[in-house]
Amino acid sequence: MWALLALLFTLTFLLWSWWKKSVRLPSANFPNGPIGLPLFGYLSILTEKNILVALDKAHDQYGEVMSVNIGPGPRTVVTGDYQVLKEVFKDDKATPRPADQMWFHKEFRFGDDATGARGILFSQGEEWHEQRRFALRRLRDFGLGKSSMEELIQEEIQQLCALLEKEVNHPLKMDLIYNLSVVNALWTLITGSRLPLHDPHIKELVHKIDELVKERGTGKLLLIFPWLRHLIPERIGWSKQKRIFANLFAFLDKVIEEHREHFARNKEVVKESPNDFIDAYLAKVDDSSPGSSFYGEQGLKSLKIALLDLLLAGMETTSTALSWITLYMIRYPEVQAKVQNEVLTQVGRSRLVSLEDRANMPYTEAVIQEVMRISCNVPLSVLHSAQADIHVGSHRIPRGTSIIQNLHRVMSNPRIFAEPAKFRPDRFLDSEGKCYVKNDHNIPFSIGRRDCLGKSLARAELFLFFSTIMQRFSFESVHADLSKINMEPIVNFAQTPPPFEVIIKRLK
Ligand code: HEM
Repeated sequence: MWALLALLFTLTFLLWSWWKKSVRLPSANFPNGPIGLPLFGYLSILTEKNILVALDKAHDQYGEVMSVNIGPGPRTVVTGDYQVLKEVFKDDKATPRPADQMWFHKEFRFGDDATGARGILFSQGEEWHEQRRFALRRLRDFGLGKSSMEELIQEEIQQLCALLEKEVNHPLKMDLIYNLSVVNALWTLITGSRLPLHDPHIKELVHKIDELVKERGTGKLLLIFPWLRHLIPERIGWSKQKRIFANLFAFLDKVIEEHREHFARNKEVVKESPNDFIDAYLAKVDDSSPGSSFYGEQGLKSLKIALLDLLLAGMETTSTALSWITLYMIRYPEVQAKVQNEVLTQVGRSRLVSLEDRANMPYTEAVIQEVMRISCNVPLSVLHSAQADIHVGSHRIPRGTSIIQNLHRVMSNPRIFAEPAKFRPDRFLDSEGKCYVKNDHNIPFSIGRRDCLGKSLARAELFLFFSTIMQRFSFESVHADLSKINMEPIVNFAQTPPPFEVIIKRLK
């Protein structure tokens, strides 16, 4: 009798909490959306091969501002409307990251409930402001928009081209080819020293970051049901993530320690003229006072996580964009020929392409923009959450609600980009096809106060890598019939191209 009552009570409680979190909207004017199942949430997200297709279907039914249950947690608002994104993210009201992921940041980002995570990507409030401001300024000082950065990227491209020279005329897998060069440029910026592309350290770093990003992709279940890490840590990928993070941290600890020793011996010189990002950060730690996120031990923890964030956020994204560009050039050789023609006309063969050439190369710029749009590298951006109640049209999004920016939805809106599934670089050109035309709705780097911190660097890299390679090489398919090329993205948290091979030919 008592056992039956207890069972009944438990069932009622479970049903009630499911109803409260998944079925009932937090308020009458909360964005509507599909009803989630107990435990699993909006099942299509898990069962559809592609989460973006699942969200598109839900948007079609519930509108551009809707809510879904991801797992058993409270409803998350999803919006794929450009005007809403622009309005909501223009100031600080939606800059925080969701608090319910703190279990993860406690483990890997020195996180705590009161002040959030260290670093840039998941920090909050004043700490985020301070860290972001510093990183932006320092990236600028060490090159963004300055010739030194340009020279650094050009140097990497020379190394890459030398490597490609050795690989001409036979099928080549593109996996991790760009990653090495992209991470090396970042590494130079951070540590002041560049490594040859065949250096085992840089290869190790690339593999670790790549493993981590892929592991995070497959670890979807872990994000939805974090408690599983206590029950089946091996099977759910938790143990593996811990191992990879530990390796990465050992890597970063070593380079930070070397810089600290050098800083201790040459403090005044380094402060006067820091050689790299770590030097500048150590100088800031030395000059800061209690209360600052740069102060003392916390400052050193924040440094480690800031480095991790720059590498994690900067490597895979830029390399994936370059891989997508390569795949589209194989699939559309006529577009590739036009880019090559533009590079040879504007730059010729005898000198390096520079960022100044960008203004005279509208077609190349349009191709990059169109690949970024159609491949939409980071389709759901990074989760945000509401700092205070947010009013959007007739909706109210209560404080603490998680918000997904559906960038894919914005960039495939047929009212803005006609026939969005078609690859058409000329949509970014004027009617005569001569001038590049910016479209504000193309937002691969997200939008607002917390958009991508590395977007200028990424844009510079994409232009210089792509146009310099096109100045010297052609990409060709291994398939005679180009329609056979698989262009279907692999969708996790990022959209990556399917594995593919390319034949690299010297440009005649
Ligand atoms: C094609 C390349 C890239 C793409 C598509 C991309 C995209 C994004 C997106 C969508 C976000 C989320 C913004 C938000 O939360 O609203 C982001 C954040 C971020 N990105 Fe990038 N990114 C790229 C390259 C880079 C590079 C090269 C760096 C490093 C130098 C970088 C560093 C960051 C950082 C640190 C953040 C977190 C910003 C913050 O939380 O304040 N990204 N990126």
